[in-house]
Amino acid sequence: MPKTQSKTKVNRKKIYFDDIRSRYFEFFKKRGHVVVPSAPLVPENDPTPLFTGSGMQPLILYLAGQPHPMGKRLCNSQKSFRAEDIMEVGDNRHTTFFEMLGNWSLGDYFKQDQLSWFFEFLTDELKLDPKKLYVTVFSGDNENKIPKDEESINIWKKLFAKEGINAMVVDLVTSDTGSKLGMQGGRIFSYDAKHNWWSRAGPPENMPPGELGGPDSEVFYEFTSVKHDVKYGKNCHPNCGCGRFLEIGNSVFMEYKKSANGKFEKLNQRNVDFGGGLERIAAAMMDNPDVFRNDVFQSLFEDIRIRHGWNYDDANESEKRAMRIVADHMRAAAFIIGDGVTPSNKEQGYILRRLVRRAILNAHEFNSQTSDLYVLIETITNAYKISYPDLHAKSAEIQEIFKEE
Ligand code: SER
Repeated sequence: MPKTQSKTKVNRKKIYFDDIRSRYFEFFKKRGHVVVPSAPLVPENDPTPLFTGSGMQPLILYLAGQPHPMGKRLCNSQKSFRAEDIMEVGDNRHTTFFEMLGNWSLGDYFKQDQLSWFFEFLTDELKLDPKKLYVTVFSGDNENKIPKDEESINIWKKLFAKEGINAMVVDLVTSDTGSKLGMQGGRIFSYDAKHNWWSRAGPPENMPPGELGGPDSEVFYEFTSVKHDVKYGKNCHPNCGCGRFLEIGNSVFMEYKKSANGKFEKLNQRNVDFGGGLERIAAAMMDNPDVFRNDVFQSLFEDIRIRHGWNYDDANESEKRAMRIVADHMRAAAFIIGDGVTPSNKEQGYILRRLVRRAILNAHEFNSQTSDLYVLIETITNAYKISYPDLHAKSAEIQEIFKEE
């Protein structure tokens, strides 16, 4: 068991989600955006996905052309949950629940404004070092006659040039080539649809008729403290899985629709669908690859330290894994219960049940009396008191449901 007194040197700069969120909203309000509320985690008018997993999901009709009552420029922080990542949680960068900062242009601005604004937000507003930012663009798709995204390449070159960075373009196209060739001094990397195309269904071939999608451009933050691990391939590159590069934002240029004959046609409007993980942006601001070092998780770990003597800073990897699973799953469960789901054997209720049980199982590592685990819910809801007052107000109810389960 780790000692309660930390000897480990960690980056102690406090990063608060509330601060990043409000700076993002202010930045985009100044650029004509209206802040819209986060949709519930259980989709309201869409029976296909069990949970809302990205900010664009509730906006699909408006991206398709229906006028939005709040206008053409929107932004928000969307509560998101991705059940497919449940088994990945435990390392330093996967969570099931996360908040996605999003801004949208519904047939208004396009690549030039989007890429410049996001770069400005990262470098001027959040003061990230531009030398640690690497970007990717779409390399094109001959079969579907969708060209390489030269426009984004040119925008990125100019943005980096303003920072005194001569941004070389490297065509990697696939992760295999990336692993073979490595960085090659590049700053802007082109990849195929597997990495740089976004639709709810994934790459073009998986999209059903009627589905919207488009090329995207991702920004990665480089953690120079992380050494490349050859387990993930010979050489490192932005889309390598080793953890040296973390994707912190994705600008989707949603201007295509798959038609009934399988061909791609342009929509009547060119949209921007941007999403950036709040936890990941916070990790980049701390220059620490561990996304569990933000204010919410740290207050939970502090609670565990006080109650059970486990100190996150001094924990070994397997202990950290257990603490992260408990923290992630309890936070996700709190938000899911907060949005009206109760444990059951089907659909959302089943996922919730799995989260609660996996949290309890892992909590056994540091607390054999897991019957009192539910009290940690209060720490979570307190941490979200300002940004999610509804969640905070339901704390007792959420604890009761967790306790019963
Ligand atoms: N929809 C895109 C994503 O989820 C950008 O928001 O990554």
